[in-house]
Amino acid sequence: MLKDDNRKAMIDKVMKEHNYEESSLLEILHKAQDSYGYLDKILLTYIAKSLTLPPSHVLGVATFYSFFKLKAPGEHVVTGCLGTACYVKSVDDIMTAIEHDFNIKRGGSTPDGKLSLFITRCIGACAMAPNIIVDDEVIGKATKEVVVERVRLALEGGGRRR
Ligand code: FES
Repeated sequence: MLKDDNRKAMIDKVMKEHNYEESSLLEILHKAQDSYGYLDKILLTYIAKSLTLPPSHVLGVATFYSFFKLKAPGEHVVTGCLGTACYVKSVDDIMTAIEHDFNIKRGGSTPDGKLSLFITRCIGACAMAPNIIVDDEVIGKATKEVVVERVRLALEGGGRRR
């Protein structure tokens, strides 16, 4: 089940704008990938259900195009919002600190598969900028210290929350 955060609301909005039409599938997949950084089974199933399409069809479309990332992300996922409001509030410094402290690059995962780092565009919470999402938790007014500590705790604490 997808957590009910702003990212889900943004995908819902795009689907609604397109009247849940099958012809909008590609655009919706793009929006979903922009928001989450990748398309996993939960997300694809949710989209399929919303558009009343067979999940196999949605998966087929997503796998056909190479620009969609279906690669299983790390056990834990950190996503930084690089929208304008977050950018001006120095979200890039936080992302750089994560890259440095956890030896990871944006768009990639650690070799042990424990952590992935993605970027997204505005998640609709600009008032709380800069925003970083660790697993399903949106950390608003994020600082390097808080985020690095949160990631460390996630890595020590084990399983994914999504
Ligand atoms: S720019 Fe990051 S939430 Fe809007």
